[in-house]
Amino acid sequence: MATIEDIMAVLRGVIDPELGSSIVDLGMVPKVTIADDGFVMVKVALTTLGCPLQAQIRKDVIARVEQLPGVTKVKVEWSELTQDGRAEVMAIARKRIAENPPDNEILPSTKVIMIASGKGGVGKSSVTSNLAAAMASMGFTVGVLDADIWGYSIPRMLGIEGRLEGVTVGSSDEPQSTADPVNADGATAEPTPSSSERSRTKIAPNQRRIGAGRLKVVSMGFLVDQEESALMWRGLILNRAVQHFLEDVRWGDMDYLLIDMPPGTGDVQMGLAKMLPRAEMVIITTPALAAQKVAARAGSMGRKNYLRIAGVIENMTAFVAPDGSRHEIFGAGGGRNLADELNVPLLGQVPIDNAVAEGGDQGEPSVLGDGPAATELRRIAELMVTEITPPVDMGTCTVRLMEAPVEISLSS
Ligand SMILES: Nc1ncnc2c1ncn2[C@@H]1O[C@H](COP(=O)(O)OP(=O)(O)O)[C@@H](O)[C@H]1O
Ligand SMILES: [Mg+2]
Repeated sequence: MATIEDIMAVLRGVIDPELGSSIVDLGMVPKVTIADDGFVMVKVALTTLGCPLQAQIRKDVIARVEQLPGVTKVKVEWSELTQDGRAEVMAIARKRIAENPPDNEILPSTKVIMIASGKGGVGKSSVTSNLAAAMASMGFTVGVLDADIWGYSIPRMLGIEGRLEGVTVGSSDEPQSTADPVNADGATAEPTPSSSERSRTKIAPNQRRIGAGRLKVVSMGFLVDQEESALMWRGLILNRAVQHFLEDVRWGDMDYLLIDMPPGTGDVQMGLAKMLPRAEMVIITTPALAAQKVAARAGSMGRKNYLRIAGVIENMTAFVAPDGSRHEIFGAGGGRNLADELNVPLLGQVPIDNAVAEGGDQGEPSVLGDGPAATELRRIAELMVTEITPPVDMGTCTVRLMEAPVEISLSS
């Protein structure tokens, strides 16, 4: 049965996007109660009631708390901070940003979705690249972080290549070492750049426009062909690569960041959960019941790290031949079972469709074309942006009292 501590831990993933910190750290959760029958009441004190953020915070609170064991129902009770209370929360927010500038470049307004699985070969990268392309085609700006460091496939699947360029940020009166942080750091004897060094030079993600939207992509695949920098990265980050991709890449504005997770993932997932407690997981499985068991481990690891599991996608569901006959080549039922076991929605079932493999090889995600897999992938992407993980909508409720500190956070 969940404890108050467990509830506070998952609530750390609920960010007030305007203030840039979690509602727990901001002191906006004055009271949580759990009744014997599993009924949880969370009291949230907002700076202002009646703006889109309120609905989002409510949805976030419920989605996270209701996944805890033994919780039967969640209710959010609101209160509006008094002027003094508000000033206090603002002061905490400013102080937090000034004292510990965000340890990553992902803005609070970006939704973070980790695409995970228990093992490789189930279609994680295919689903990630197709969902990203579909969301971009709807007009969103979508980041893709290829966290499968040595098994990367995102560059090929999204048809993006080219080295990553350095961008210089921060104060201009100090000497700038170079526009290329990778080679510069690689050339120095010291393997870890100091934080001030890091703050001045960042890497720009590679980009691709799709329809009205845009993809921003970072992958080890953009770095390893450069021998010198590959060496540097190898020594410097093997275990901390994902962290560096979050810290040292100038991601900028994004509606979504999709993270293609490496299989297995204990350490990477824990590191990510620490840096981005608001991340949500989508778990990919094939229909085989054995695969579902392995995928369940990814889910329980996520739960242990207090991440929300947004849902399950079954991939390689069945092959429908041109004559209409259906062939369940990899079994059946794994996705449904896993979703039920984790008590999350089954977001969709992507059929076996050669267009997925071909599109991946040619760098033209199949979701942008036609066919059975494309139709289902597009439906899943639509479901995600509308119901499951809608984008953060700052709407009209920006208090904008945070402008100065936010500027600090962007440039440090
Ligand atoms: N729905 C699908 N239909 C047909 N082939 C698929 C489908 N999903 C993935 N594939 C193929 O299966 C292989 C493994 O997929 P991939 O996305 O690389 O898996 P992972 O990232 O989990 O290791 C790739 O060759 C890919 O093209
Ligand atoms: Mg992969």
